Amino acid sequence: MLLPHAESFDPPYLATMPVKRHVRVTRRLAPMAAALLAGLAGCVDTRTDEATGQQLYLRYCASCHGTSGRGDGPLAASLSPAPADLTRLASRSGAKFDEAGVMMAIDGRRAVAQHGPRDMPVWGAVFAEKHVGEPFAMYGPTLDVRALADYLRTIQRE
Ligand code: HEC
Repeated sequence: MLLPHAESFDPPYLATMPVKRHVRVTRRLAPMAAALLAGLAGCVDTRTDEATGQQLYLRYCASCHGTSGRGDGPLAASLSPAPADLTRLASRSGAKFDEAGVMMAIDGRRAVAQHGPRDMPVWGAVFAEKHVGEPFAMYGPTLDVRALADYLRTIQRE
């Protein structure tokens, strides 16, 4: 889960404190941390389930990659290079679904920074825009991309 660790609520000065005081402070902070985490869970959409990924896919990806993911969406014919067959991501990388690699390809921000513009929209930037103004907006694009990768994993074929 992409929530901050409880440890990160420990201010650095705790390290220099006598142990007893450390424990007291930690005890006092723990409920705060727990409340904060509970609050977070309420406002950050942490779902990475297939339904969410599929919804995102149909909305943002199917026009080019096709509802089946095979690269045969309505816009495909006018694109060169053609949109990739997303049902063969695993088979093309040695029968292993490279989740991190797929997430990087979808997000695109780093790839474009390194290699310049590409034919597919930079979804990391699109999703960042979509979450502007939400609490913990910085997690939005990662969660969307993760949900999409989870969905793509389910449509892999030989
Ligand atoms: C405007 C058309 C278009 C849309 C919409 C689009 N893609 Fe793409 N996509 C492409 C093209 C073209 C390529 C192959 C060439 C390239 O990388 O630029 C590609 C490549 C990819 C790759 C890389 C595959 C590989 O070979 O490693 C992935 C993963 C991918 N798309 C996922 C997605 C996802 C997920 C979405 C929706 C969020 C999406 N695409 C939406 C056009 C599109």
